[in-house]
Amino acid sequence: MSTLSPSLPGGTWTLGDLTVTRFGYGAMQLAGPGVMGPPADRDGALAVLRAAVELGITHIDTAAAYGPDVTNELIRQALHPYPRSLRIATKVGAVRDEHGGWPPARRPEQLRHAVQQNLRTLGLEVLDLVNLRLGDAQGPRPGSLAEPFEALVELQRQGLIRHLGVSNATPEQVAEARSIAPIVCVQNLYNLAHRDDDALIDELAREGIAYVPFFPLGGFSPLQSSALSAVAGRLGATPMSVALAWLLHRSPNILLIPGTSSVAHLRENVAGAGLRLSQEDLAELDKIGR
Ligand SMILES: NC(=O)c1ccc[n+]([C@@H]2O[C@H](COP(=O)([O-])OP(=O)(O)OC[C@H]3O[C@@H](n4cnc5c(N)ncnc54)[C@H](OP(=O)(O)O)[C@@H]3O)[C@@H](O)[C@H]2O)c1
Repeated sequence: MSTLSPSLPGGTWTLGDLTVTRFGYGAMQLAGPGVMGPPADRDGALAVLRAAVELGITHIDTAAAYGPDVTNELIRQALHPYPRSLRIATKVGAVRDEHGGWPPARRPEQLRHAVQQNLRTLGLEVLDLVNLRLGDAQGPRPGSLAEPFEALVELQRQGLIRHLGVSNATPEQVAEARSIAPIVCVQNLYNLAHRDDDALIDELAREGIAYVPFFPLGGFSPLQSSALSAVAGRLGATPMSVALAWLLHRSPNILLIPGTSSVAHLRENVAGAGLRLSQEDLAELDKIGR
């Protein structure tokens, strides 16, 4: 599944029948504060998206809930008509309320509406990849996903969605989804300091399913650890670079979608993720989240 690409660190991965660079881009940080409203610097946000594609990135992660609609519309303005190689992954299952909260919206009619909203705002006729977002802001919550997942399978049958995934899901929910229909990825919280999904990542790797960690750099609270700083210092790299390179080393099915609103940070992250880590570095880093 994983092949070497000379252009971006990590090479490529195939999601179903769609090949993407393992180094992708997460668009959430392009919306305004609290992921609500427009960005302060719209031209800067458009520049980040164009730079991502110029750097060779072919996997962009978004959601209609970001803004809402803000990141989808920025992606469309910056990149439509889309390069043939570009794959846009989106999420449904949560909306935004007037306080900036993320209430669930997983009834079949809400999911149909969300898929149509994503198609419209992204300017697409078919969505490459739709993740059903479960749980809440505190993390995954147990419970059956059958009703909402089956609703998405029906929209897939109707030709509106190419591939399905789940997000913010428990291992049991991942298994339940797979018993209903094939999934190509799981998008959950995971980084050097949050290792709850270690076993799940290994299982998915064996099954050829991608694992897409959200908050790879710690999200709203950047990763901080003395072990991370020590390894970064020894290698003359930034902690962010080490955190991304570690994820690429961790398993071949891990796809990166680090977020940034800065072209400089995007370039830094692409360069940094290619860092080679020795067995000694990996052993030291491995202790952080355990
Ligand atoms: N499924 C879900 O429930 C879920 C939840 C959250 C996120 N996501 C997805 O996951 C993606 C990644 O998450 P995220 O963007 O929230 O978190 P992240 O990638 O862990 O971190 C982004 C933060 O790191 C900073 N940053 C990035 N590169 C940097 C650098 N080189 N130097 C210094 N700071 C740097 C960014 O600030 P600057 O803008 O200043 O660079 C931003 O504040 C999102 O874009 C979204 O698509 C999904």
